[in-house]
Amino acid sequence: MSGILNSSIGRKFAMALSALFLMIFLLQHFTINLLSVFSEDTFNNVSHFMGTFWLIQYVLQPVLILGVIFHFVMGFVLEIRNRNARQISYAKNNGSANSSWMSRNMIWSGLAILAFIGLHFYDFWAPEINVKYFKGDMSGLIDPDNVNSGFRYWEELHHKFVDIWRVVLYCIAFIFLSLHLLHGFSSAFQSTGMNNKYTKSLQGFGKAYAIIIPLGFVFIALFHHFTH
Ligand code: HEM
Repeated sequence: MSGILNSSIGRKFAMALSALFLMIFLLQHFTINLLSVFSEDTFNNVSHFMGTFWLIQYVLQPVLILGVIFHFVMGFVLEIRNRNARQISYAKNNGSANSSWMSRNMIWSGLAILAFIGLHFYDFWAPEINVKYFKGDMSGLIDPDNVNSGFRYWEELHHKFVDIWRVVLYCIAFIFLSLHLLHGFSSAFQSTGMNNKYTKSLQGFGKAYAIIIPLGFVFIALFHHFTH
């Protein structure tokens, strides 16, 4: 592993692979969140399954968190190395002649997403860990002493979007996410050198993903805000 990460192309591959993994997570996360718009019951049942099934909780969740950390750390490493390399080889040119505005700002959109994840964990993940593992309540019920009280997941999500400031912050983050995905997708094609008859349609898919998923998240946040 360290051998792969020691070469520039190895690092870019690792970056693209971790990005692909995070995109698969984001697609399933989006699909489950979208259920909250259509059916309170379905969203509650799926959330309870995801939140209590051992494979997801104790295997996939830690892998996901490691994947997020890896992607960010590797992103910084690549950025710093690129900067150092640029000082030497691009000495005669200005930055914009060598890299697009977005590619130079990949690190900034990445930092905006990192800040969002901080807020997002504070909003959803930390309270979830608190109820389940600190208070020891795995029931998922609004009132753990009353089996008829129903699951709490949809209610909690719905109430998070009462405050307009949170909706605005989330939507700004989704715009950064879209920009990050748009550029990330095209740079992944360059670094993996993939160029065959599927490249065009995959690039089209990447563009569609980078626009539709963040827009869908905007829709979910607005839906919960305006249906109060
Ligand atoms: C309207 C948009 C979104 C909503 C309503 C939402 C909702 C949630 C909820 C309810 C959880 C808690 C799951 C749990 O631990 O029980 C969660 C966790 C999480 N969300 Fe989101 N999310 C949204 C957007 C995003 C975006 C855009 C990202 C990534 C850029 C993201 C990344 C995560 C991560 C990494 C977790 C922790 C996963 C885990 O529990 O293991 N979310 N989200």
